[in-house]
Amino acid sequence: MEPIIAPSILASDFSRLAEEVQAIEGAADWAHVDVMDNHFVPNLTIGLPVVQSLRKATSIPFDVHLMITDPQRWAPAYAEAGAYNVTFHAEACDDPVALAKTLRAAGSKAGLAIDRDTPVEPYLELLPYLDTILIMTIKAGFGGQAFMPELLDKVRDVRRRAQVNDLEIRIEVDGGIAADTIEQAAEAGADAFVAGTAVYGAADPAEAIRKLRALAKA
Ligand code: DX5
Ligand code: ZN
Repeated sequence: MEPIIAPSILASDFSRLAEEVQAIEGAADWAHVDVMDNHFVPNLTIGLPVVQSLRKATSIPFDVHLMITDPQRWAPAYAEAGAYNVTFHAEACDDPVALAKTLRAAGSKAGLAIDRDTPVEPYLELLPYLDTILIMTIKAGFGGQAFMPELLDKVRDVRRRAQVNDLEIRIEVDGGIAADTIEQAAEAGADAFVAGTAVYGAADPAEAIRKLRALAKA
């Protein structure tokens, strides 16, 4: 599948969110929206009202990454708000298959995120119920952290299982993805790439996206 580049707006200027998202329209495939509740992770970002408002300001698909406790309660509202994909954390959900079904019924794709310290093996059998699986390449909570290449073994495990069972699933990586790390993530089998600092920290975000896309294809 063609690579997906999903800039994380966590690294953008929150006082100008609409313009920041508009700046990547045309160049990026998805806008990655990090929702943090200061409970599942020790950081607080934006929630449903902001996503609802932002949805009206742009046509780019939203890839919502919920770093929150109790996603069963909150995730469907993001699908109803027009998110293209809604990803919740395995560590916060005791019935991922049920929530994935609820999300699909609510009109979005369903994604499962695996944090740094969580093994992926127990979740491989859930792949048929998911549209995306997000393998964290850092510990979730903050942008700007260093990429951890050892976590790519989880990407390899998912890719192998997807190939054996002929599954259509996006394998997404999130954390420290930049020009010097995206190629190894792509080689491991990832085909969707979240990049915060590498895009919004660049002088020309659209150019940074083009460069990342070329490296992901190489
Ligand atoms: C962190 C978030 C990431 C973050 C990535 O928990 O899930 O999406 O924005 O930022 P960078 O690309 O700077 O590592
Ligand atoms: Zn994220």
